[in-house]
Amino acid sequence: MSRSALITGASRGIGRGIATRLAEAGYGLTLSARDAERLEVVADELRAAGAKEVVVVAGDLADDASAGRVVTAHADTFGSLNALVLNAGVGTAGPIGEFPMRRFAKSVDVNLRAPFSLL
Ligand SMILES: NC(=O)c1ccc[n+]([C@@H]2O[C@H](COP(=O)([O-])OP(=O)(O)OC[C@H]3O[C@@H](n4cnc5c(N)ncnc54)[C@H](OP(=O)(O)O)[C@@H]3O)[C@@H](O)[C@H]2O)c1
Repeated sequence: MSRSALITGASRGIGRGIATRLAEAGYGLTLSARDAERLEVVADELRAAGAKEVVVVAGDLADDASAGRVVTAHADTFGSLNALVLNAGVGTAGPIGEFPMRRFAKSVDVNLRAPFSLL
């Protein structure tokens, strides 16, 4: 049976690196991030690296509906999940006194709420 993985924040950095290793290992992949064009470029690279199938779902994971679309797209294509890589995140470095509450809310939504909704 072929294996599959869902990777958030797969368009660059650590998530893209994990996606590449899993593609080389023959996993089918669902990739998520906000920038759809960037995701398509990475998806083409991963197909060339050996991924059996690559599904791309662009959207902001701070939005519950986006998280739901990612899960549904993966389930519709692969039917099961072997690895969930919760990599997308918002940095929180900086002095607390200067940390805008809007950024705090975004951090909670992307770093905590979205992973919970994807489980
Ligand atoms: N690099 C480090 O030294 C370090 C240290 C500690 C923790 N981390 C954490 O490790 C993870 C990966 O780090 P990285 O350095 O590879 O980060 P990165 O280069 O900034 O990549 C972040 C990825 O997450 C996606 N993303 C960001 N916000 C999103 C949102 N609201 N909805 C959906 N996707 C979103 C980005 O794509 P889009 O912009 O297109 O959405 C991108 O694919 C992050 O969670 C980061 O906080 C990294």
